Amino acid sequence: MKTIKKLFCLLTIMCLVFACAACGSSSDDTLVMGTNAAFPPYEFVDDDGNIVGIDAEIAQAVADKLGKKLEIKDMEFDSLLTAVQSGSIDFALAGMTVDEERKLTVDFSDTYATGVQVIIVPENSAIATVDDLTGKKIGVQAGTTGDIYCTDDYGQDMVKQFNNGALAVAALKNGQVDCVVIDNEPAKNFVKANEGLKILDTEYAVEDYAAAISKENKELQEDFNKALNELKEEGKIQEIIDKYITAE
Ligand code: ARG
Repeated sequence: MKTIKKLFCLLTIMCLVFACAACGSSSDDTLVMGTNAAFPPYEFVDDDGNIVGIDAEIAQAVADKLGKKLEIKDMEFDSLLTAVQSGSIDFALAGMTVDEERKLTVDFSDTYATGVQVIIVPENSAIATVDDLTGKKIGVQAGTTGDIYCTDDYGQDMVKQFNNGALAVAALKNGQVDCVVIDNEPAKNFVKANEGLKILDTEYAVEDYAAAISKENKELQEDFNKALNELKEEGKIQEIIDKYITAE
């Protein structure tokens, strides 16, 4: 009888453990990263269907340092902050810009890269500088800083939101928008993959990338920063960046 009771107890515990592991966010040995894997070279889906890129590798290196497994969840960019807040992911690493507005809802780790909002136009475009954007139809990825700045500067009517950068660039190619405002490294990738486009020399905004972490999880923020700073000192972050971004 006693053994049966013990067995039953054990089974119940095992069920609970599995249920917990299935419920999404961190079981104790796994860090769950959220991203939007349509943003090369920071995150994209490779030919085998894996999410790879600078952010994926940095997250893996951080997880290794913390002795945890890494799970990556792909989602819309503008769902990431809610996912961090609700705890369905432990952190977002998505070429995400540190931004005062976002700081009201999430905390940020130390920064690991610099991004520049640039302007993509057709090669024969009359748009030559930021000053020429007035009255033009601007394509952006929804919820990004490019979206936020352009909406602020030129008004909602002039800004067309897309689910990802590739869709915005496709709309630029077929004339639905006059330009696309997006981060410089993805911009380079999109221009390379599409003929007849160029990036203007003028920078629209310079910004810092960091991981977004729940305000409720100071411990993770501390651990993440510690691991990140060790990786910086070891030259590992630069090594990862250099693997994906070759100096031209
Ligand atoms: N840096 C911009 C922002 O934070 C764009 C990031 C988009 N990232 C992505 N994985 N799609 O708003």
